[in-house]
Amino acid sequence: MLDLIVPYYLWVKAAHVVSVIVWLGGQCLLVVQLASHRQVLARGGDADVLSEVEQRCLRLAVNPAMLATLLLGATLFFLRGPELLGEGWFQAKLAFVVAMMALHGAIAATVASLRRETVSAIRIRVLQIAGLILTATLVSIAVIK
Ligand code: HEM
Repeated sequence: MLDLIVPYYLWVKAAHVVSVIVWLGGQCLLVVQLASHRQVLARGGDADVLSEVEQRCLRLAVNPAMLATLLLGATLFFLRGPELLGEGWFQAKLAFVVAMMALHGAIAATVASLRRETVSAIRIRVLQIAGLILTATLVSIAVIK
């Protein structure tokens, strides 16, 4: 099965990078929207529509893109072979991928919290900064190796 995909290695890599862009770009926009959502709630406004947009963004873009990134990344890994696990850049990349998935969980939890109550501005700022640092680190590790 893997032999059939070998000639398409670069296509799989391109699809992996596209899914990374949609995942991390969508996550970044979502956190900006969470800051606006918090401000609307702080002014006593009705933010039901914002909650709906956030849920939809997660369900239709960010979650599927995360899944695609992991599946395509795993495909590239199997095509390259298990010796990749011995390379320092790949071990570091996997550790930061786990951290990025934890951030994704924290963002999804904040989307759920904002449906019921407001959250602190610091919590949203931490999500923004962590997203930028993890994105810059992961892309640098993946490209520079
Ligand atoms: C947020 C998560 C991820 C980001 C930002 C990311 C980013 C990238 C980028 C930019 C490349 C292209 C590098 C190049 O051609 O120079 C790449 C390739 C690759 N990625 Fe990922 N990736 C992520 C997740 C994963 C995961 C979870 C795996 C494995 C389970 C994986 C395995 C690979 C492999 C094996 C390559 C090919 C490396 C090569 O051809 O030299 N990636 N990744």
